[in-house]
Amino acid sequence: MRIVQHPIELKKELKNVKGSIGFVPTMGALHEGHLSLIKKARDENDVVVVSIFVNPTQFLPGEDFNKYPRKLEADIKLCELAKVDFLFTPNIDDIYDKDEVLIKAPNIKGYILEGFNRPGHFDGVLQIVNKLLNIVNPTNAYFGKKDAQQLYLIKKMVNNFYMDVNIVECDIIREKDGLAMSSRNVYLNDEERQKALLISKSLKRAAKLIMQGVMNVQDIKSEMLNILKPLDVEYVEIVNRNFDKLDKIEIDYTIILVAAKVGTTRLIDNIWI
Ligand code: PAJ
Repeated sequence: MRIVQHPIELKKELKNVKGSIGFVPTMGALHEGHLSLIKKARDENDVVVVSIFVNPTQFLPGEDFNKYPRKLEADIKLCELAKVDFLFTPNIDDIYDKDEVLIKAPNIKGYILEGFNRPGHFDGVLQIVNKLLNIVNPTNAYFGKKDAQQLYLIKKMVNNFYMDVNIVECDIIREKDGLAMSSRNVYLNDEERQKALLISKSLKRAAKLIMQGVMNVQDIKSEMLNILKPLDVEYVEIVNRNFDKLDKIEIDYTIILVAAKVGTTRLIDNIWI
């Protein structure tokens, strides 16, 4: 595995690659969720590139940029075991200019839900993902459904800018007890971790209600909010795959989303119906 820090160097190296390139962008502190994306990329491409970069522009002032877990040594080992070909670990100053051209998330879909609670977050996500895709120029890029709105907006950017990359949507990986894997789960103490289970529990309950024929969004949301009562809920929302709010569940076209704080840790999760 080659570890490359400079964007131009990586671009040069990848120019010589023959065959398909699969790319997995991450912020590191790799867990089974990230590894499932890497494995899929490995299965489907000739060359696999992973990036690890804790992107400052997607954190709002007062968020956890400084304390975000950084575990480069362990991440390198995991990438080696997963047979990654190139690991890209840029420095902030090599990838960001002081006064650069900026991408702005769409005014509506970029500022609802996650974008409403974290205004400007998706501007930063799209800025870095645009750069990374231009540096790596992958055939396929892999993103998790865990960050459903991020995935939606990246697909939208790729469409709006006529970018030449296939975005591959990957399923959410969970702990045995249902908690969606996240680099931020390390912030939870034992008690909080137990409480956090209510999030996946509420989503499972929603899926069960739908299986039983409950299609009214308000009914499902109020059952979920009931389960989530002990938590500090930011939103429970039911949207279609285009992130428009729904009144009635549309099978194979619905996403149910939750964002909640457990202690000081903000967690998101969702289920695709
Ligand atoms: P990060 O949170 O490190 O996630 C990297 C990728 O792993 C994302 O596509 C995310 O959706 C996926 N992922 C995280 N947890 C997952 C899980 N439990 N199951 C499946 N996939 C999971 O998302 C980011 O980094 C950043 O915003 C990034 C796109 C790298 C831009 O900075």
